[in-house]
Amino acid sequence: MVAEFMSRAREILATGVTEATLNEVGRLLSQASREAGFFTEPEMRSLHGGSTTSSILQSDTDGLTLMVGRFAPEETPVHNHHSWGVACVVEGKDRYRHWRLDGDGRVRVLYEKDLGPGDFVVWLGPPHDIHSQQGVGGAAVELVLFGKNVMKIEREYYNPETGEVRTALPA
Ligand SMILES: [Fe+2]
Repeated sequence: MVAEFMSRAREILATGVTEATLNEVGRLLSQASREAGFFTEPEMRSLHGGSTTSSILQSDTDGLTLMVGRFAPEETPVHNHHSWGVACVVEGKDRYRHWRLDGDGRVRVLYEKDLGPGDFVVWLGPPHDIHSQQGVGGAAVELVLFGKNVMKIEREYYNPETGEVRTALPA
């Protein structure tokens, strides 16, 4: 089921990675995620050094990577992925914040959305790939499709208060 979604997503994105094609992939992911047995929740590793965990469901040689993440009710650090993405909630409620890096080196919230099961957001590649997330009233489980295997790529962690930026591999 995951493999079938991945090849259909690849077909859609072959015409170009735009907000329109990413939204089409988001609709497909939302639909697929509601089918029974779309994926089995594997053991998830800790992400962002907090109680957020994640696991790769499939990662292909061209970089297309589907992950499942569990976001605790505490906000992740503000971070980027060096990749476009499509994130779809499958369980719980996720508060998604999208950030923009301004000319003064500070990140500021561009928009915030509460997502329930079946809801999704998309973002384009750098510099449009900065976000933070948290479960609301409990953990939120979410599928995220990336154009690259982001677990092998360093990301930036931004401190909105101080403007400090730290670069690190996903911990
Ligand atoms: Fe992220």
